This record gives sequence, C-alpha cells and structure tokens, in this order.
Amino acid sequence: MQRREFIKTTCLSCANLAIIGTVSSLILQSCNTVKYVTVLPKDNKLAIKKADFMVLKNEKTSYREWVLVKTEKAPFPIGVFRFDDNNYSALYLECTHQGCEVQPQGDHLQCPCHGAEFSNIGKVVQAPAEKDLKKFQVETDKENIYILLK
Ligand code: FES
Repeated sequence: MQRREFIKTTCLSCANLAIIGTVSSLILQSCNTVKYVTVLPKDNKLAIKKADFMVLKNEKTSYREWVLVKTEKAPFPIGVFRFDDNNYSALYLECTHQGCEVQPQGDHLQCPCHGAEFSNIGKVVQAPAEKDLKKFQVETDKENIYILLK
C-alpha cells in the first residue's frame, strides 16, 4: 500500500469511528435521560418511585435530571425535575403561549413551536410565552414522589 493511500484510508476510518462514537453517545445520553412513567391516579395523586430517577452504570449511581410522567387524566405529560432526594418540581408540559408540548432540555424547558423557554420550576425565561407553566404540588416520603393533581 502506498503511503498516500494508507494515510487516506486511516483518516477515513478514524472519521467514521468519530461519527459512530458521537451518534452512539447521543443515543446513550438520551437513553439515560428520557424516562417515561405511566401512572394511574389514586385519590387525585400520582405516585412515582424515587428510584425512577436512578441510573446504575459501572456500579455507580447517578440521577436523571427529570422524568416524564404520563397519565390518562391529562393529554400532556408532567415533567418531574429532581433537585435532591426530597425536592422535586412537577410541571404540566403544555406551553402557556399557544398550547404546544414543551420539551425538557437539561435544566430548562423549550417550546418547539415559537421558542419560549421555561426554567425547571416553570418560570418563563424567554418570550413569547408570558405565563409560567402550570405547577403541581409535590410531596415525598422515603421511596415515592406524590404529584397532587388538584
Ligand atoms: Fe409555545 Fe408558542 S406555543 S412558544
């Protein structure tokens, strides 16, 4: 193999590996982050497990920033953000501008329709939305997180 052909082949292989690595890390990242929990309400309360936020990898525990909860009582999911073991926020993911579904993006939420942004406690941080997201009261015990639907 000529030197020039060897360098060309090697560089292409490295570029392919870099692309595959980037794509797989995005897939793994999204697998670690997006978790849907479907729950039936009981006494106007949704209960999810604190363990739903846990990610075990290489014998180490880390925590998802948020989990999406679906229930038959609401057409939009509820985004539950974890701040620590006893502090969570539960936000109804219907944009207050014109009703699109907002998407969690790390520690904030973004609306794909017109670009409004909200904090992980539901406050508007970027127009065109003017009202904060609907927020549910949250309670916890040792194992569960309770979202009060009233
Ligand atoms: Fe969300 Fe318009 S519907 S910004």
